[in-house]
Order: sequence, then structure tokens, then C-alpha cells
Amino acid sequence: MLTIEKNIDLTPYTTLKIGAPAEFFAVLKSRADLIEAIAWAKKNKKAIWILGGGSNVLISKKIRGLVLKNEIKGMAIKKEYKQAVVVEAMSGESWSGFVNYTVINKLSGCENLFLIYGTVGAAPVQNIGAYGVELKDVFESLVAVDLKTGREKIFKANDCAFGYRNSVFKGKLKGRYFIYSVALRLSKKPILKLDYGSLREKLLEKGIKQPSSKEVIDIIFEIRNSKLPNPINFPNAGSFFKNIEVNSSAYKSLLKLYPEMPSFPVSKNKVKIPAGWLIEKAGFKGKKFGPVGMYEKQALIFVNFGGASAKQAMALVKKIQGVIKKKFGLDLEAEVNII
Ligand code: EPU
Repeated sequence: MLTIEKNIDLTPYTTLKIGAPAEFFAVLKSRADLIEAIAWAKKNKKAIWILGGGSNVLISKKIRGLVLKNEIKGMAIKKEYKQAVVVEAMSGESWSGFVNYTVINKLSGCENLFLIYGTVGAAPVQNIGAYGVELKDVFESLVAVDLKTGREKIFKANDCAFGYRNSVFKGKLKGRYFIYSVALRLSKKPILKLDYGSLREKLLEKGIKQPSSKEVIDIIFEIRNSKLPNPINFPNAGSFFKNIEVNSSAYKSLLKLYPEMPSFPVSKNKVKIPAGWLIEKAGFKGKKFGPVGMYEKQALIFVNFGGASAKQAMALVKKIQGVIKKKFGLDLEAEVNII
């Protein structure tokens, strides 16, 4: 039976270690728990909030309603074709554990997404991405449960409206579905994407021309550990802001002022400017404001150096956004969900 607790502090359930209380809270271990929670919320007229790994949220105020911590687990190979395999994982599995499972089973496609924090269920919501690969590149389908009716729905890639750190689950269908399981289509033969700057450089440095999946994972591990702080020592939520897409005319004007500004092409007339560079240029890299600050080796990572409150965190977020707007005329958008 599902245990519903009252007034539970969510701080320990977030990787940023910043939180506030949930009015009601329950841990889900099974589909039966989920159905019970939906019925309870309906009966008590409470909104439902879902918490996965807590790795992409900044909880800034008390959450009214029922917060569900997803711990529904399981992974299995669903279908096998000549060259590909469809693997399914339950949404409460750790994403990185899932990538590890695919590599152990000699299935290729999501090596570059190794070590991204969070759960399998959160991966499509965000369309997680790293080193030139996004979840959408290996996505097959997902099963979601309607939080109002308890009914199940299958979403194919076309139904998900995947974009840069975006999907229909952050837009039109926000808060409507509980993602129950995710299926990925992976290749039996290695299909590796190796052209992302830092990945290519590391391969060159090591003299590896045709790496195996395991070698790619090891290199991703090395790159991430050299730039990104371990959330155990430095509580953080990965990239805190999104990189900024600008059109070519805005890009040209900025380039006149900052000829050294890095950028990545997105489409014919759009480029992405790394928010990490803008934040560094604005002087925030490695600078502390009380218990919060931007990481010294990667300016896009917001770190809680110990005991920060939501108020202190929000003050720095607003300050950085204000400075970036003033200095570059650009709107820095949070990549984490601020609740
Ligand atoms: N840069 C700086 N200073 C910094 C950080 C970055 O100048 O302090 C510039 C450099 O020019 C660098 C460029 O930004 O070449 C890109 O930096 P990096 O390769 O570290 O990636 P990013 O754009 O900062 C994105 C994702 C990460 C993902 C990496 C690697 C977003 C918001 N973030 O970061 O994803 O791991 O690429 O692919 O798109 C996450 O979403 O939580 C996350 C960690």
C-alpha cells in the first residue's frame, strides 16, 4: 500500500540540495502505487508533481499538492531485429545506469549521454543531450499514464515535439502525464558520434582512431570529471541555463563587439552561443556569492557550496540574467525547472 506523508522537506531529494516542503509526499515503487496515488489526488483534489532524480530542479517554494518520487525500476530487451534492438527501461531507473546496461549488452547509440544525472523518465522531458547526441536520436517510444484519468498512452517520436532541451512534456502537455517507461532503439554494431569538439580532441590526444563503445564511455567520463563538479561534493544541477539561439543579424552585431565569441551553427540563419562563455565573460565564473556561485571550471554550472537557501539561489540567478541582458542584450533562460 502507498504511504502518503505530510509536510516533507524536499531538500535531500534534489542534487542542488536546495528545497522547500511538499504538502504531501509519496514514493512510488510500482504501477499499482501510481494508480493509487492518482485516485488519492483525485479524491482529495490535490495537484500531482513528479520528482525523478531531482537533478534538474530548483525548488524555490512550498509545493502544494502531492509530490511523487519515482522509484519504479526495471530494464529489458523488448524486440530484436537483425541490426537493432529495442530496449525498455522503467522511468525510475537511473539514466546513467541504463547507459551502462546498454554498453554491457553491446548496444550502441547513447554512449555520449553517459553520466548525465537523473532518471530515465526525465530524459525525454528534457530531450537530454551531450557531446553531439540527443535522446531523440535513439528514441523509439514511451508509455505515459494520464494523471487525470489513469489511462495509458503510447508516444512515438513524432508525438513528443523534441527540441533543444525541450519536448511536448515541457510545453503543451506539461504536468499532464506520468512517463512510465521509455524504449530506445539501439544498434548492435557501434554507431558512434565523435565530432563534438572536446571529444574529438581527447581521441586525438590519445591517438585513438576507431574507438569502441567502452572507450567512448571512458573518455566521456574523463571529460565530464575534468569539467563538471561531482554533485556529492558540490551540489549542482548540471547546466543551469540553456545556450542561447540567436539569428544571424544579432550574431553579426555581437561578433563585432566580441570577435572571439564562440558559436555553433543550428540552422541556416541561427547559431547557438554558449551560455558558459557569456557567463564567464560577464565575470561570474568561479565567483562566490555567499554559499552559491558558478563553478570555476565550467561557468554554466550553478553550485551550492553548502547550506544555500532558495532565496539566495534565486537572487544569484536573477543577478546573472540581469547582467547578461545588460551586457549582451540576450535573455538567459534557465535550463533547470524552477518551481
Ligand atoms: N565555455 C566557456 N566558458 C565556460 C564554459 C564554456 O567559454 O566556463 C564555452 C567554450 O567555448 C566551450 C563552449 O562554451 O567550447 C561549450 O562548452 P561545453 O562543451 O562545456 O558545453 P556547454 O555548451 O557549456 C552543453 C550542455 C551540457 C553538455 C555539454 C557537452 C547545455 C545547456 N548544456 O554545455 O549538458 O554536457 O554541452 O555536450 O546545452 C546539462 O544539460 O545539464 C549538461 C551538462
